Amino acid sequence: MTIFAIIFYSAIFLSSLFSYYMFKKKKRRHKTRARLPPGSMGLPCIGETLQMYTQDPNVFFASKQKRYGDIFKTRILGYPCVMLASPEAARFVLVSHAHLFKPTYPKSKEKLIGPSALFFHTGNYHACMRKLVQTSFSPEVTRKLIPDIERLAISSLESWDNGQVINTFDAMKKFAFEVGILSIFGHLNKKYTDLLKKNYSILEKGYNCFPLKLPGTAYHKSLMARKRLNQILGKIVRERKENKLSANNLLGYLLNFRDEKGNTLSEETIADNIIGVLFAAQDTTASVLTWILKYLSDDPKLLVAVKGEQKAICESEFGENRSLTWAMTRNMPLTYRVILESLRKASVISFTFREAAVDVEYEGYLIPKGWKVMPLFRNIHHNPEFFADPGNFDPFRFENPPKPFTYMPFGSGMHACPGNELAKLEMLVLLHHLLTKYRWELVGSANLIQYNPFPIPENGLGARFTKEI
Ligand code: HEM
Ligand SMILES: *[C@@H]1O[C@H](CO)[C@@H](O)[C@H](O)[C@H]1NC(C)=O
Ligand SMILES: *[C@@H]1O[C@H](CO)[C@@H](O)[C@H](O)[C@H]1NC(C)=O
Repeated sequence: MTIFAIIFYSAIFLSSLFSYYMFKKKKRRHKTRARLPPGSMGLPCIGETLQMYTQDPNVFFASKQKRYGDIFKTRILGYPCVMLASPEAARFVLVSHAHLFKPTYPKSKEKLIGPSALFFHTGNYHACMRKLVQTSFSPEVTRKLIPDIERLAISSLESWDNGQVINTFDAMKKFAFEVGILSIFGHLNKKYTDLLKKNYSILEKGYNCFPLKLPGTAYHKSLMARKRLNQILGKIVRERKENKLSANNLLGYLLNFRDEKGNTLSEETIADNIIGVLFAAQDTTASVLTWILKYLSDDPKLLVAVKGEQKAICESEFGENRSLTWAMTRNMPLTYRVILESLRKASVISFTFREAAVDVEYEGYLIPKGWKVMPLFRNIHHNPEFFADPGNFDPFRFENPPKPFTYMPFGSGMHACPGNELAKLEMLVLLHHLLTKYRWELVGSANLIQYNPFPIPENGLGARFTKEI
């Protein structure tokens, strides 16, 4: 299956598709004189989905952009969409006119994650929750987690060094999950961590499947796992309340929250936001880490240089404790640029969705109320006007900062990723220990891209890890 089979089952509104188009089809008169953007809508209902199923999505978008320019319309699974491939348009939708657009996810996915998770919301509720999440993942808080993240990185690496071929993506997912748990709960006992891990792994299988609620389907199993997760989270919450532990982690902030009337958050709201963060944190970080290993394997000279940077840190004056400090993680310029370039080249969040809340006019074009808009991050990241020779992996291009709104691996505006500092920190910590103590060789072919739904190297990048000393 291609990315679109998967993404659009998950990221769009399939369930309401036919009813919407069959029964609610009514022509609205637009007050404005503006025209719709250029582009072809394909067949009614199916739109251009078929073409997207059968074409590399990058080729699909890029050929459209070439033909119609930076703004074009299309229809995906029945939904009329306007795709936006310029920095100015991304800025318009995500920042300067963000109030005219709202987030949009399929109902089936909202149900699995939890309807109160912040990314489904706008306005006051979103702002309150976002503040809590942002505080919990701010550098001031996450820097204190470095020793624990290091411990998780070291034990992950040790478990990979067993002579077996490792699926790098799966291995990175485990690491990212553990870091997620750590940043949400602080220390959580192993019993709870295991229950969450097992049930979450059932839940996540439902994210990208057809939302059929019949017993036996992945979606149904996923919904059941979500119910069990609520019970587990409820138990943890009640224990923390009893122990009156006020802690510097997401759960602590959620528990301490009071609105202007003094009300606390419900257990459900807390659970939805915890599952939401796990969802946002795991596959994204894991796929970027997997790409980093792939890009470094493909460029032996760069690998030597990055290893050199990391080994020098061990030997420097800082290194006497043999443990990383915040200052050391701020002093890895080449490794940091490898991360930035990997985020650009892989563009694991290739685009996002919003929905026009009213009729919107942009550059003389009409975006009718209810239409989806998609800022195309990947196209912008691969536009030679902003990134010379975009197919080339070149971390040194980040010696100069990119122009505004040409580089948005973490989005932009009021829904931009609040976990971006934590994501970069955990990647640096893992890379430090990997590059100073291990070598790896790729096993099998890894030249194709697999969509999971995030792009990852074929077969999750099979590799064998060996300790060097
Ligand atoms: C390299 C890894 C990551 C990437 C590439 C990434 C990317 C993104 C992007 C592009 C968005 C904006 C989506 C949109 O505007 O529609 C986003 C939102 C979000 N991310 Fe991340 N993310 C990563 C890691 C994390 C981590 C580690 C966490 C949490 C610890 C996290 C938590 C969130 C949350 C809660 C939102 C929703 C924010 C809101 O709606 O206000 N992300 N992420
Ligand atoms: C899921 O959670 C429940 C508790 O609600 C637990 O009994 C069960 O063992 C967990 N794991 C799996 C795989 O279901
Ligand atoms: C080494 O560790 C000790 C105790 O944890 C700490 O006080 C000291 O600042 C550390 N030294 C360096 C150079 O980071």
